Amino acid sequence: MGINTQTIGLAIGWLLVGWVGLQGLNFTVRTARRRARWHRDFELERADFRRRVEAAARAARASKAIADWSGWRPFRVAAIVDEAVDVKSFYFTPVDGRPLLPFAPGQYLTFRLPLIGTSAPLVRCYSMSGRPQQDYYRATIKRIAAPSDRPTAPPGRGSNYFHDNVRVGDVLEVRAPGGTFLIDPLAGEPVALIGAGIGVTPLVSMLDACVHSGQRREIYAIFGFRNGREHPFKDHLQRLAETNPWIHLQVSYSAPLSEDVLYKDYNHRGRLSFDRLRAVLPSNNFHYYVCGPSQMMESLVPALWDWGVPESHVHFEAFGPASVKCGGTVQSRGRRAEPCEVRFERAHWAVVWDGSFTSLLEFGEAAGIAMPSGCRAGSCGECMLAVRSGAVTNLKQPSISVPAGHCLTCISEPAGALVLDA
Ligand SMILES: Cc1cc2nc3c(=O)[nH]c(=O)nc-3n(C[C@H](O)[C@H](O)[C@H](O)COP(=O)(O)OP(=O)(O)OC[C@H]3O[C@@H](n4cnc5c(N)ncnc54)[C@H](O)[C@@H]3O)c2cc1C
Ligand code: FES
Repeated sequence: MGINTQTIGLAIGWLLVGWVGLQGLNFTVRTARRRARWHRDFELERADFRRRVEAAARAARASKAIADWSGWRPFRVAAIVDEAVDVKSFYFTPVDGRPLLPFAPGQYLTFRLPLIGTSAPLVRCYSMSGRPQQDYYRATIKRIAAPSDRPTAPPGRGSNYFHDNVRVGDVLEVRAPGGTFLIDPLAGEPVALIGAGIGVTPLVSMLDACVHSGQRREIYAIFGFRNGREHPFKDHLQRLAETNPWIHLQVSYSAPLSEDVLYKDYNHRGRLSFDRLRAVLPSNNFHYYVCGPSQMMESLVPALWDWGVPESHVHFEAFGPASVKCGGTVQSRGRRAEPCEVRFERAHWAVVWDGSFTSLLEFGEAAGIAMPSGCRAGSCGECMLAVRSGAVTNLKQPSISVPAGHCLTCISEPAGALVLDA
């Protein structure tokens, strides 16, 4: 009986010790787990905070047109990759070896090309098609042929120079990333990226940056190409959509080839139109980023406004002379009815503006004035002139900052009698 009581007492004692031990172990494990979770959350929050600060700084720099460097900086062509028929990607690394500050997805680079047989270098802008990296930029360039209604005209000078003359190892002069067609990759609101042809380049950069940010926001990438041979980044885009269920990729081919398979290579036969957007999108509640040929922009952007999308939710980039106006209407040719005199001071020449030209640049060129120019889209600043007297109306928001008393002739028209320093 005594032994039994002792044994039971011992057993209870050991059980108590075991229980206390288990509790202690449990407490230690729980504390370690909590610490690990806290540490992981802290690291995630810190990384997220760092990304947000970087994105905010990038957007602030871009919106205030604060360039990462001033003037021209030499970049070496590190690689050239075929993306589709007549579309190549060019990879650029800085010759000085200094790291590149991250650009804002949607921005472009401005190049100064030493064209053979021309006195002045040619200036052209190309969007960056990759996500921000520290060591290289990527631009994807389509070779531009003569217009179909002017087959004997010379083909595009800048794009053909890139395709025919630029080789790996060459050095080109590049201005810092610019432009205000930007997306915040860390924001959460759903977006629709709408692009056709080579206009998809800034949208691919935006898509890549959004995926890389780790933010699972709903993204509709609605793209249009002629066919599979003219479809850049095809595998890359399909892979992104397959591995990220919140990305909805919808591709239209306007002229598919016999080898293009519907629902495998593309989702819809026809042009990328507003009807297509309405068929694909579940609602109009998106932020829209649009870039493509002028006819597409001219029809799509006003259609989005008419659909009730606030103007602040519709962002677009024009690769050439822009026809979509920020004021909510589409520009038509020959807007200004009242004639006025425009004087080119250095040339000692005055001409009457009758509204039949799309910009002061075209007007001056037609009058035989030596007008500097580059992108013809308000992006490069090459056409900037001092306004000696009078004022101009901007037909589009400039993508760069324009000092007081100056104008970008490619996107402006006179607001009355005008004297220009040209
Ligand atoms: C912000 C921005 C971003 C851009 N991003 C990209 C991009 O990512 N990728 C890209 O490929 N492009 C992009 N572009 C467009 C690019 O900058 C050039 O406009 C494009 O490459 C055409 O330039 P080019 O020098 O080859 O053609 P240009 O020499 O300017 O010629 C344009 C057209 O005019 C025709 N032409 C020339 N002379 C005559 C004549 N006498 N009569 C009739 N027609 C004539 C040419 O045949 C050609 O079809 C972008 C533009 C901007 C503004
Ligand atoms: S020509 Fe580039 S801004 Fe006018």
